[in-house]
Amino acid sequence: MSTLELPVLNTPDAPPAPSNGLKVYVETYGCQMNVNDTEIVQGVMHQHGYAVADTADEADVVLLNTCAIRDNAERKIHERLNHLKYNKRSNKDLVIGVLGCMAERLRAQLLDKQMVDVVIGPDEYRRVPELVEQARGGERGIAVKLSRVETYDDIVPLRTEGISAWISIMRGCDKFCTFCVVPFTRGRERSRPLSSVVDEAKHLWDSGFKEITLLGQNVNSYRDEERGFDFADLLAHTARAVPQMRIRYTTSHPQDMSDKLIDTMAGHDNICKYIHLPVQSGSNRILELMNRTYTVEHYLGRIRRIKQAMPDCAMSTDIIAGFCTETEEDHQRTMDVMREVRYEGAYMFAYSPRENTKAWKMGDDVPDEVKNRRLNEIIELQNGISREINALEIGRTHGILVEGPSKRNAAQWKGRTDTNKTVIFPHEDVRGYVIGDIVSVHIESSSSATLVGKLV
Ligand code: SAH
Ligand code: SF4
Ligand code: F3S
Repeated sequence: MSTLELPVLNTPDAPPAPSNGLKVYVETYGCQMNVNDTEIVQGVMHQHGYAVADTADEADVVLLNTCAIRDNAERKIHERLNHLKYNKRSNKDLVIGVLGCMAERLRAQLLDKQMVDVVIGPDEYRRVPELVEQARGGERGIAVKLSRVETYDDIVPLRTEGISAWISIMRGCDKFCTFCVVPFTRGRERSRPLSSVVDEAKHLWDSGFKEITLLGQNVNSYRDEERGFDFADLLAHTARAVPQMRIRYTTSHPQDMSDKLIDTMAGHDNICKYIHLPVQSGSNRILELMNRTYTVEHYLGRIRRIKQAMPDCAMSTDIIAGFCTETEEDHQRTMDVMREVRYEGAYMFAYSPRENTKAWKMGDDVPDEVKNRRLNEIIELQNGISREINALEIGRTHGILVEGPSKRNAAQWKGRTDTNKTVIFPHEDVRGYVIGDIVSVHIESSSSATLVGKLV
């Protein structure tokens, strides 16, 4: 892997440029890859002398890092841009930019909106300072070329909070599920070298991080071509390099969920026993139309294999309700899979047709009210299952990684179990633990979303 064709603007040891007195605010929408991309953009901007603003109101540059996955994700951005128009009225030098997947999808169309000065796609973030600079001089700009090699491997993400860090190990997606815009907005799959990911993990541990999540749209396709490593190798190397660090990853594709990967997870205590394995639908006919490249039987076989190796492994999934031609029978099959697997949690969506995808041409024939009714049935079923599974935790004791005060009540602190469940417990100063410690909590009550317990 090399980034030879790209200018290297930032090496880990290079000092940042002197402050230019300007502040940038990046607002993040969409998936965790966007969260990490925001940190990369902040890293690039910091290197060029910008400070990071706490709010849009105090910023000289406001960048929206956007998502295009469903229509409502894009609608939200249009609304936000309309609102930012007013910021521009009170500060005529304000630069407003659209980054991310929507920038890549809509390109110059976004420049038709008068409040937008720059449009920058996911593979062009090295050019953000240059385009912002031009915009300050009155010249609006666009950069949306996709790259086959860009991984931002040499950019140090500017992480602004917490003890958990995201590490993107690869970019792009080659799966081309028929409903999905990601292969178009993020381009072709490419991976970072194993050694650079492991080094970043070590560096994060040395800087006080306690948990890392390795990110990719489809991490099972990770390849270190030069040295012939796959994702299981990467996990194993990382787990050994930072043996006290909690290691998570997302997302894996059911087709390539290998025995080797499952056994690697089972073999390392610091790899969290939690897998997000999107099923999308429980109907083979729909899975085929979606080009998911697996059957329900294959999927359930993988779940059995996972539970054999790790009986307590928590599972979550993504489900789409109302994909084109979905019948009541197909919908029931999805609910059957949910009842069989009993996921700890699920992200559930109504199908949203996306222009230029294959499914776009198949039509969108499930009426909205039917889609929404099916989605609500799915959500209700999942809430019941989550509630039942969480109730089984009462009386158990878990090692919790302490994240700090809960948002609603500072007297209550929160953390997560290895299996990614949020636990709330009364803060006890005298115990002397700090954010980032692992403490034992005895679970006393639960809901579908959280566990509540007491320090032991
Ligand atoms: N790479 C991951 C998913 C990334 S997108 C994977 O393949 O599993 C996150 C989720 O958004 C998808 O799993 C899917 O459930 C949902 N999604 C994607 N495109 C969608 C669309 N057009 N309409 C509704 N949901 C969609
Ligand atoms: Fe989209 Fe499928 Fe790639 Fe996931 S695997 S990002 S759903 S194309
Ligand atoms: Fe959205 Fe792009 Fe992520 S479309 S889900 S931000 S990869």
